[in-house]
Parts: sequence; C-alpha cells; structure tokens
Amino acid sequence: MRIIHTTDYKDMSRKAANIISAQVILKPDCVLGLATGTTPLGTYDQLAEWNHKGDCDFSQVSTYNLDEYRGLSHDDPQSYHYFMLKNFFEKININLENTHVPNGANPDAAAACAEYDRMVDEAGYPDLQLLGIGRNGHIGFNEPDDVFSKGTHCVDLTQSTIEANSRLFEREEDVPRQAYTMGVQTIMRARMILVVANGTNKAQAVRDMCFGPVTPACPASILQLHTNCVVVADSDALSLC
Ligand code: PGA
Repeated sequence: MRIIHTTDYKDMSRKAANIISAQVILKPDCVLGLATGTTPLGTYDQLAEWNHKGDCDFSQVSTYNLDEYRGLSHDDPQSYHYFMLKNFFEKININLENTHVPNGANPDAAAACAEYDRMVDEAGYPDLQLLGIGRNGHIGFNEPDDVFSKGTHCVDLTQSTIEANSRLFEREEDVPRQAYTMGVQTIMRARMILVVANGTNKAQAVRDMCFGPVTPACPASILQLHTNCVVVADSDALSLC
C-alpha cells in the first residue's frame, strides 16, 4: 500500500485524477471501477476538465460502479446511476452504453447481483478501481462484518451509513435501507486500487485501513494485502497516521 500525502481536497483530487488519466492514456480501452460519494467529485471534475481540453479521451473506456440503492430505478435522481450521469458521464466523451451500475430497479436481489457479477467478470475486472472510504471503514457498501464478502450482494445499510448519506436526501427516512454492492473479493480483483480520502471525519478509518489489523470489522483494511493499492489522502485524513 502506498500513501500519497496531499495538502487539501483540491490537491487530493488533482493527484487522483492524474493517476486515472495516466491509466486512460496508457490503455485507452481500459475498464475503470468507479465510486459515488462526495470524495471523488473533485476528481471527476478535474478529469472532465482535461477531457474538454483533449488531454484525456474516454471514448473507448468502460466503467463499472461499485453499488446502487435497492429499489431506485436508473432515472431516479437519488440513484447512483443518476449521480454518475450528472457528475461525470455527461461531462465527458464516454459512450453511455459502456457505463454500468448495478440494477437497483430489479427487486430480485439474487438475479440483479448475479447479472452484475457476470458483467464485471466478462469485462475482465477493472484495470483501476477508484474507492472512497466510509467513516466506519466500509468500501462500496461492504459494511463492517464478521467475514469479508465475495461477489455482488444485497446489504442492509448500517445506521451510521444511513445518517452519513442522509445529507443527500430531503429526510433521513428517504434513504433506502438496502443496496446492491460489489463484494470485497471482486474489488480486490482490480489490477490497481486508488483510494481517495479527505477530512478529519475519515482520519480513524484511514488509520485503520492503512495500519490496523486486517479484519472484516474494517473492510478497507484488506487493501493492505493488495499488491497495487495507492491511497491519496489529505493531511486531515492522514492526521492519525
Ligand atoms: P463520501 O463517501 O465520499 O461521501 O464520504 C465515501 C464512502 O462512504 O464510501
């Protein structure tokens, strides 16, 4: 695990975007694993800017997002599909047919998850997987547990995640209680993993991820075992390291 210290959110976003941009330049038809949340927004903005300048071409790239709320259709403004469209895909020259998010509208969890696993497997798994980290150490919606998860599965969100995500909803009651998420084993199959983190509210999770025991109680801690994992974090997020 390599840790890249950055001064602030802007610096973190720029350095993370540089790494993703390098991946796209080196392999124009690469597979990117993408994440939602507020942390990657600056990274997406920076990539969109470089895309407009002609420096980063997404026309052959395909993407697979980590997760989606169960029960929300693709065009629901609270869905992660919609989030990706508005915050990234509509701002770059990607072919929307090459972008993928688990199908939250399929109420058959087993079928929706198996279908997504099949798609990610057929794509050959991400060349680069971008990850945020939850305050409780979750990656995707893989919450602290007794075991590390394998493939895509349906999860009950923890109260801490519901509260953290409620800022994006009008009322906390509106936050869906379940989600479909790629499993930890699938995430670990990416050839490179890039974690972005900023702010003091992530400091404990970043410390546990980088230096704590490898345990499903902190799902991100398994990234210590990945052979090519880079953490790009600001000084606040690294303040306990
Ligand atoms: P955030 O979420 O970027 O909105 O803080 C990260 C996560 O929960 O994975």
